[in-house]
Amino acid sequence: MNITSKVKPLLWKENQLLVLDQRLLPYEKKYLELVSYKQVINAIKEMVVRGAPLIGITAAYGMALAGLEFVKSYTNTVQLINKLKLVAEEIKQSRPTAINLKWAIDLVISDLKTQTSTITPQVLIDTIIKRATWIHEDDAIRCQKMGEHGATIINSHSSVLTICNTGALATGGIGTAFGVILTAYKKNPTIKIFASETRPRQQGARLTTFEFIENGIECTLISDTACGYLMQRNEVGCVIAGADRIAANGDTANKIGTYQLAVLAKENNIPFYIAAPLSTFDLSIKNGVEIPIEERNEDEVTHINGKLICANGVTVRNPAFDVTPNKYITGIITEAGVLSGNYIDVIKNTFNQVAFV
Ligand code: MRU
Repeated sequence: MNITSKVKPLLWKENQLLVLDQRLLPYEKKYLELVSYKQVINAIKEMVVRGAPLIGITAAYGMALAGLEFVKSYTNTVQLINKLKLVAEEIKQSRPTAINLKWAIDLVISDLKTQTSTITPQVLIDTIIKRATWIHEDDAIRCQKMGEHGATIINSHSSVLTICNTGALATGGIGTAFGVILTAYKKNPTIKIFASETRPRQQGARLTTFEFIENGIECTLISDTACGYLMQRNEVGCVIAGADRIAANGDTANKIGTYQLAVLAKENNIPFYIAAPLSTFDLSIKNGVEIPIEERNEDEVTHINGKLICANGVTVRNPAFDVTPNKYITGIITEAGVLSGNYIDVIKNTFNQVAFV
């Protein structure tokens, strides 16, 4: 069954990147037209677009925009490739935690490395656009497969809790954790869905409930602080979250608050799942301690809708992600199947077996 979502966060049209401004959701649906790679960097930094796979897709299209920009001043193909390699490093710096950003940019760069001075700059640009489009469409396929692998697991429970936004707004398809829930729901609409608010940027409240409602699916919004209460009262059958980076041992970085949910789930004997494509794994790092965690502006904590909600001048910390150690994770749902058990071996074997990219 091919499951679709009504939400479309990004569109490549006539050499422009149209992105739905997620900062304005759910109040306003406004697409911004990005025509330069600097605008793409800004859109990623400011979270116009967000979510690990979507950040990677946007970055790849950013490389295409850079090609179109610089073809005007670099008529020599080798010089253009060298310039684009510098741009790639710049785009990679836009957000530090989601590994999909590096993954997508590295794919574009590896294509460029195979090009020679005999091809024209225009052919080079066509190659980048083709690769960016492939990354976009390929992520949609991965989401479908995750949905298929994960739906049965979710449907063995009568309710599910999720955090942050992991749907179409975060990916090239129906989503990771959200896609699994969507697929489960299509098979069994009686499943009860809880979405946690996800302070400070409220991706759960603003984006996930928006996506469920747009797709005609009932969900219940709860504050982050209510998760333990519902788990203790047996109202949560399982928990499923996305991922921004998964280390070689399965330790998983995801939206701040995910670790708390995992610990609470274990305490209450509730299975805790991660759903992520293989492009979110970083086998270059052994464990979660090595994952860089983004700290964002303190305004995100001190203000809501531009209004100060705390004592002026208070000291603030605003880590955007946390790391859930592998021991709390019941299974990792990927496009290649559900990984569980000894994560170091299982992850290594999966990457050895799958013809990846
Ligand atoms: O800061 P964000 O909104 O980019 O964080 C997003 C998340 O943490 C998601 O859970 C993660 O990227 C997985 S999305 C498919």
